[in-house]
Amino acid sequence: MSSSSSDGTMTNQWTRYQMAAFRITLYMAIACLFIALFLYFESQSSFCPSTSTFADELTSEGTVPTEKPIVLLWFWPLDVKFDFKICSTYFNISSCILTDDRSMYSRAEGVIIFHRDIDWHLNNIPKDPRPSFQKWIWFHVESPTNTLKIPGLENLFNLTLSYRRDADIVVRNEVTIKEEEMKDVFVLPKKDNLLCWIVSNSAASTGTSTREKYYNELSKHIKIELFGSAHTGRRLSYEDYYPTLASCKFYLSFENSLHKDYFVEKVNGPLVAGSVPVVMGPPRENYEQFIPNGSFIHINDFPDAKSLAEFLQQLDKDDKAYMGYFEWRKYYKVVPHLLSMQNEFIHPICLACDHISKDKEYHVVNDLYEWYFT
Ligand SMILES: *[C@@H]1O[C@H](CO)[C@@H](O)[C@H](O)[C@H]1NC(C)=O
Ligand SMILES: *[C@@H]1O[C@H](CO)[C@@H](O)[C@H](O)[C@H]1NC(C)=O
Ligand SMILES: *[C@@H]1O[C@H](CO)[C@@H](O)[C@H](O)[C@H]1NC(C)=O
Repeated sequence: MSSSSSDGTMTNQWTRYQMAAFRITLYMAIACLFIALFLYFESQSSFCPSTSTFADELTSEGTVPTEKPIVLLWFWPLDVKFDFKICSTYFNISSCILTDDRSMYSRAEGVIIFHRDIDWHLNNIPKDPRPSFQKWIWFHVESPTNTLKIPGLENLFNLTLSYRRDADIVVRNEVTIKEEEMKDVFVLPKKDNLLCWIVSNSAASTGTSTREKYYNELSKHIKIELFGSAHTGRRLSYEDYYPTLASCKFYLSFENSLHKDYFVEKVNGPLVAGSVPVVMGPPRENYEQFIPNGSFIHINDFPDAKSLAEFLQQLDKDDKAYMGYFEWRKYYKVVPHLLSMQNEFIHPICLACDHISKDKEYHVVNDLYEWYFT
């Protein structure tokens, strides 16, 4: 904005015009992305074969060229299917041959086994001897609180696939460094709400009671707009997710259970949309290992909910201080995570494919639960 402008009204109008233009562009971009994804899935599902492989990777005789390893997806996570081609179209990963065809087991270099689909008595995991070159990948994206300790898995796997930084294959939306020419100017989206919370699950069994308690206390001191099925009875549609976040100055990124590294899309969402996450989860230091120091507010920085509420109200009146929470955008960038249950599993599976194509080392996971639960 030009500093020589002395006409406040003009400046105001111009800013509003810019914001409106930005908003329209943002909404259109998001809408386009969803329409594209929707059309893509629609077109694929209608002629989805019962077993799928990157078909074009196979030669006419059905033999597999040796240079790309085969990675076998043993279960479709929660029985949600998608086309493996999305790994190359969306994530630019085509370094392996992904398949769900179990007859390829003996040739597979990687076998992805989704924890939540494993039978308690291990009746549904591969029975045939494991070839010496084959690695079993433990695929799990829930927090320890919501993880069943199925007996017999402790020393079975070669690689872990998880949101944890110390997993062999890490699945997260990482903050990345901007290239010089991408140092665009951030325009704050129009704000209709001070503080928001989207919550779909309030089942106490999943460990939500801490955040519910804090929410109840906080709501006595500051107005909180609620979205999502847990409180409003209405699920927020995927199309509305990012625009809703964008309309809020602050967003409650409250995890259902507190574990190291366990904060992913609840923080990524507001960062992408241009809102400030107010986090409840592991300690601040753990967040700072993943997201810029000045991009979020941690509830532990305040003695109680009341002082947090006062701090947010103070920031609401102080534009300069509030904008300070977006300084990081000059240097770093975040990318939207895929929404919907189906899409949630695509990224990890593509990453496993890429990992197997590069990792030629011997690996064993010794005592899986010791690692995961402590
Ligand atoms: C896709 O990946 C290949 C190598 O794996 C790389 O050379 C190429 O630049 C990538 N394309 C894009 C659009 O990122
Ligand atoms: C991160 O933020 C904290 C608290 O706001 C501050 O004390 C600390 O100096 C910051 N660290 C860095 C590396 O900027
Ligand atoms: C995979 O793990 C199993 C079980 O620990 C082990 O016997 C096998 O040698 C490992 N294979 C590779 C290729 O790392």
